[in-house]
Amino acid sequence: MNQVMRSVSRTTTEFLGLVTGRRATPAFSPTAAVPDSDLAIILKAGLDAPSSYNLQPWRFIVVRDIEQRRKLRIAAMNQEQVEQAPVVVVACGDTTGWREDLESIIRIGRDHGFSDQARIDRKRTNVTREIGSHPNMPQWVTKQTMIAATTMMWMAEALGYDTGPMEGFYEDQVRRVLNIPDHVCVLFLLAIGRLEGEDSKYPGRLPPPRTLFGERYGQPINIEIGRVGLEL
Ligand SMILES: Cc1cc2nc3c(=O)[nH]c(=O)nc-3n(C[C@H](O)[C@H](O)[C@H](O)COP(=O)(O)O)c2cc1C
Repeated sequence: MNQVMRSVSRTTTEFLGLVTGRRATPAFSPTAAVPDSDLAIILKAGLDAPSSYNLQPWRFIVVRDIEQRRKLRIAAMNQEQVEQAPVVVVACGDTTGWREDLESIIRIGRDHGFSDQARIDRKRTNVTREIGSHPNMPQWVTKQTMIAATTMMWMAEALGYDTGPMEGFYEDQVRRVLNIPDHVCVLFLLAIGRLEGEDSKYPGRLPPPRTLFGERYGQPINIEIGRVGLEL
């Protein structure tokens, strides 16, 4: 019992360290590599993220080739991290792929023991109705994809890498460089590598009462947020 409690507490403390210690990396070492064995762990973590009805509309393009990174840098408003970092994951969302994927997802679910036919029929009906008439598919794919991309970010940080999240890019240019079809939205770039030079300073956050409420929008929550880290 004590063993379990100690290990839970260590995990929590380590995760808290990652969360508070992570910075948007200002510059990457162009010589430090991310081995495939680590990259595979990072990518798999993202693919294991949750999504609505398990539909997984994310599509990730892993850019390592230096020529591609150079072109991507131009498309990304000339942000030099894109060329410096050995890996840039381009997170995209497929707005129509669910139609093709639904039956595969049901079959894979069956293989994992989700075989209740009534539930399967309900899922097929609900997905077709809800997602098929969704008024804002770019927004829907963004919700799902950002969770997966963020999971990759944390796994990279947990493996000791530094990360740079980016939305500063011209979508049409990224689309052209990477051959991305029109029904796929380009959402987010994640540079992964090793910090070079000094890390960014913590830029602070808004006071919690501005962004965090209890029970109703705008209503203060009675929790001392600032103390949480200290108590662990
Ligand atoms: C969705 C998203 C897009 C961002 N886009 C860029 C970007 O294009 N270029 C950049 O230098 N930083 C970008 N950032 C980094 C933010 O500026 C940074 O996370 C923020 O200032 C807070 O700093 P911190 O991450 O070090 O705590 C982005 C962050 C997020 C989450």
